Amino acid sequence: MDRRRRRNLIVEAFMVVLLLNQFVDGKGRKHRCEFPAVFNFGDSNSDTGGLSAAFGQAPPPNGESFFRRPAGRYCDGRLVIDFIAQNFGLPYLSAYLDALGSNFTQGANFATAGSTIRPQNTTLSQSGFSPFSLNVQWYQFNDFHGRVRNFRTQKGDGVFERLIPKTKDFSRALYTFDIGQNDLTAGLFQNLSIDQVRASVPDIVGQFKTVIEDIYNQGGRSFWIHNTGPFGCLPYVIARPLSTNGQVDKYGCVGSYNELAQSFNRQLKETVGQLRKDLHKAAITYVDVYSIKYTLITQASQHGFEHPLRACCGHGGKYNYDMHIGCGGKVKVKGKEILVGKSCNDPTVAVSWDGVHYTQAANQWIFDQMVDGSFSDPPISLGLACQKQP
Ligand SMILES: *[C@@H]1O[C@H](CO)[C@@H](O)[C@H](O)[C@H]1NC(C)=O
Ligand SMILES: *[C@@H]1O[C@H](CO)[C@@H](O)[C@H](O)[C@H]1NC(C)=O
Ligand SMILES: *[C@@H]1O[C@H](CO)[C@@H](O)[C@H](O)[C@H]1NC(C)=O
Repeated sequence: MDRRRRRNLIVEAFMVVLLLNQFVDGKGRKHRCEFPAVFNFGDSNSDTGGLSAAFGQAPPPNGESFFRRPAGRYCDGRLVIDFIAQNFGLPYLSAYLDALGSNFTQGANFATAGSTIRPQNTTLSQSGFSPFSLNVQWYQFNDFHGRVRNFRTQKGDGVFERLIPKTKDFSRALYTFDIGQNDLTAGLFQNLSIDQVRASVPDIVGQFKTVIEDIYNQGGRSFWIHNTGPFGCLPYVIARPLSTNGQVDKYGCVGSYNELAQSFNRQLKETVGQLRKDLHKAAITYVDVYSIKYTLITQASQHGFEHPLRACCGHGGKYNYDMHIGCGGKVKVKGKEILVGKSCNDPTVAVSWDGVHYTQAANQWIFDQMVDGSFSDPPISLGLACQKQP
């Protein structure tokens, strides 16, 4: 064997070892999943343009840290769902409702800001909650799936073939969910007591379960489910006079609201456990986003963040938040109209973007905590979310 051939063999052997390390664990069974698509359902935590398409664009300065313009997100930049797509080498998800410029080849996003699991009995203008509740997002997904099947079976003119997934991608895709917070706040903002809202949680979680079962029945196999965050620590909740009666905990959060969120999360986790038993072929991961966000807010300075209870883009008061004039709105100050823009010095150390939503920097930090599976049940990383646990 000549020297060059031997060297090539050594290089090849080395490459094989590298590849094995990348895709297989010691037991030789943990291949990193190759999801051809991501289908997302949720609220503003993962809305990449849905509400903007239906009700008008989120105004500047939304988007300015990353997209340099409004990009359908209530954030200065990317959301956790963007980091998830990026992690799999997939493009950022197009919003299903976006008619122009969308490409659904590698997924679609059905989330809209203000979405709840249960349909609400109030309009967006009355209450601020989106008409695209989870059941509606499911109708849309269902219709999307049916149309894709039709386009793929007809020999079409090729226009849509470069914009839609392959039929088989629906069973190989990752289905992601981040929804529930607005069901709780919707009740509270209608002046229901915490006990009354807590009493509705079984119904809320039950409706969530139905949607997962339906997607499974359509072939979905990999599910990645975020629980709901500590909304009792968000400026838009704390700043409502009725929320607190002046009472906040040592972190400045409304503890009873966080307990409600945790009560929802316990029931969601139990339901996900039941789904795991019922849906034999599915890999279903529950992710404790609550704990990640709570750590970020209550130990902000340890993690390089500042003023976790102050909105970066907002106006007025202790929390730099005014429920009547949001980020990007206009306010009259001494007779002069000014834009409610970014008032924090540095959004890369801010937690709250607009009093309701997290900054890109916070979203990146949240993603970095969850990606390796440290907050997952079962404890598998995002990259292995297609693996059913034995
Ligand atoms: C809306 O009204 C219907 C009929 O009264 C009720 O069953 C349902 O629970 C209400 N939805 C919510 C979210 O309150
Ligand atoms: C849509 O995106 C896919 C890759 O994600 C690409 O192959 C395809 O060409 C794109 N379609 C159009 C019309 O640009
Ligand atoms: C809740 O109560 C407050 C104070 O009593 C009142 O101003 C507000 O209109 C009520 N909201 C709803 C939705 O009933």
